Amino acid sequence: MYNLVYKSIANSLTPAQIDEILIESRDFNGKNDITGCLIYHEGFFVQYLEGDAEIVLALFDKIRVDKRHYEVILLSHGNIYSREFDTWSMAYLSNQLPNEAFKYVKLMVSPEEEIPNMSVVPNPTSKKFWIAAKTVLNKIGHNNFN
Ligand SMILES: Cc1cc2nc3c(=O)[nH]c(=O)nc-3n(C[C@H](O)[C@H](O)[C@H](O)COP(=O)(O)O)c2cc1C
Repeated sequence: MYNLVYKSIANSLTPAQIDEILIESRDFNGKNDITGCLIYHEGFFVQYLEGDAEIVLALFDKIRVDKRHYEVILLSHGNIYSREFDTWSMAYLSNQLPNEAFKYVKLMVSPEEEIPNMSVVPNPTSKKFWIAAKTVLNKIGHNNFN
């Protein structure tokens, strides 16, 4: 099992266009045993993908050239023992992020040199961050996110 996290800058997208990304993602991911979470905040995406390494990497090759976003930067990747988002083919969080999480997402999408102490902040390269995201998803309920 393998996971990766990247950030990117969204091209101006309508809610319908974001829905389209989610529909497309959930269809492909569901068929290919990929799970994860997409965060959209103030024009930035942060995405967590997990699944078979070959499939995740092949998908990331497609995602990184997708014209709906740019400046795709890989933040972390590696082997994992178990999934974080096992019941979500692609969870989605945007305005439901609590203030605390917003703080980390803001940090995360700021230029590298402006990120203080990346190693001690629970940012999206850390498991802690995604567990917090999962807690939010569980609170909101599953219905809109499968
Ligand atoms: C921010 C973002 C996240 C995406 N996430 C996924 C995803 O999780 N799974 C997926 O199949 N496609 C995802 N896509 C869409 C892919 O980039 C691509 O359009 C899709 O894989 C279809 O590619 P194809 O027509 O070459 O097969 C995402 C696109 C964007 C912009």
